Amino acid sequence: PAATKVTINKTREHRGKRIKVSGWVHRLRAQGKEMMFIVLRDGTGYLQCVLLGKLCKTYDAITLTQESTVTLYGTLQEVPEGKNAPGGHELVVDYWQVVHKSPGGDDAVTNKVNAESDPSVLFSQRHLVLRGENQSAVLKVRALTLRAFREYFFKTGYTEVNPPCLVQTMVEGGSTLFHLPYYGEDAYLTQSSQLYLETCLASMGSVYTITPSFRAEKSHTRRHLSEFSHLEAELAFISFADLLDLIEDMVVTVVNKLMDDPESRELILQLNPGFVAPKHGFRRMKYEDAIKWLNEHGVKREEDGQDFQFGDDIPESPERFMTDTINEPILLTHFPGPIKSFYMPATEENPRVTESVDLLMPNVGEIVGGSMRIWKHQDLIDAFARAGIDTSSYYWYTDLSKYGSCPHGGFGLGVERFIAWITNRYTVKECCLYPRFPGRCQP
Ligand code: 4AD
Ligand code: MG
Repeated sequence: PAATKVTINKTREHRGKRIKVSGWVHRLRAQGKEMMFIVLRDGTGYLQCVLLGKLCKTYDAITLTQESTVTLYGTLQEVPEGKNAPGGHELVVDYWQVVHKSPGGDDAVTNKVNAESDPSVLFSQRHLVLRGENQSAVLKVRALTLRAFREYFFKTGYTEVNPPCLVQTMVEGGSTLFHLPYYGEDAYLTQSSQLYLETCLASMGSVYTITPSFRAEKSHTRRHLSEFSHLEAELAFISFADLLDLIEDMVVTVVNKLMDDPESRELILQLNPGFVAPKHGFRRMKYEDAIKWLNEHGVKREEDGQDFQFGDDIPESPERFMTDTINEPILLTHFPGPIKSFYMPATEENPRVTESVDLLMPNVGEIVGGSMRIWKHQDLIDAFARAGIDTSSYYWYTDLSKYGSCPHGGFGLGVERFIAWITNRYTVKECCLYPRFPGRCQP
């Protein structure tokens, strides 16, 4: 009988029928001389295939290796529970072809990608590592997560925009800027699309983007990349309280969507079996209270072993200790101006602190940074002066505070940090296709 060509994720509808599937030999096991099992992988799923009798005695069968590509024809049969066949069925093969043979022996993929390899080998071989069950699952969760965010923004009425990555302005401080020559001028790789999003409010209303941001981060950490996927949103005519609610609503809605969808739910639970979606009513904590919390819990400053003081930056490790101990999402707010970016306004009640927020998650720490923006012209000019920034290349940004300004704010979410949080990865380096960090720019 004729065979229908199917992908593995669609096999269920074809039970009892003859099908054709192509893919990679994920696992291979011979049982005596008369039976051979192939777990086939095609990127959409895994399918157990069984070759019987003379089909496993051919030269191709005897010399078959893991990661070879094959096309298999046969009938899909239901498998009783407990036989451990993915999807509850297996393909009883009646004809098959090798498309391409992957090397075995010393050159086999498994020798290049050994789970015990040191991390630098895994990053060098990442084009092969991606074929692993967990690594491919992380990247699928990433794709489904980006889709869920886009759906959320679409439904709630934001317009997607695509700002440039080659820019002549900084957003988050000069120390992490990547410089490059630009036709005889100086340019940078963008640190954040925020200022550009702000320019879109007057023409497109609420906007968002998912654009790479670049930071020349000098240190190696679990959560810093030189290039990361930055999901940023900006809204006009909102208050600081609105901003906090928006961030919380987005995270709760997107995670619920992922956990309601069977495909993403299964992948997330495969990677992070204990994962529970956070509920509305995130804990809100002021920076000042975080400083108190650290001191009450005996956490000391790394540089001098002293208590934390108001005005100190809370570094990654104390921040993570606090988040892991509290073990729930925290909207940390009201940071002092001097440790935050130039565009953040002081609160009306207290000029020492700003309308700023970080969303902290267990196991990762900060996944979102946001704030209201200084929107009155003179205040903005003063802020640039305080930060020692020459405004000439910011003329388009300062114009916004002249030609019809309004209270507005927004936030940026590190996509890799969000993925590291929901899939419980040790580092953000596992949460993007090919991570970029000091010393690594390939594959
Ligand atoms: O807190 P950040 O620096 O805020 C901004 O860039 C704002 N301009 C965003 C805005 O308001 N539109 O970065 C925002 C988020 C962080 O919370 C973190 O999740 C992520 O971006 N991030 C990084 N992720 C990976 N590697 C890095 N080097 C990152 N730097 C920031
Ligand atoms: Mg930040």
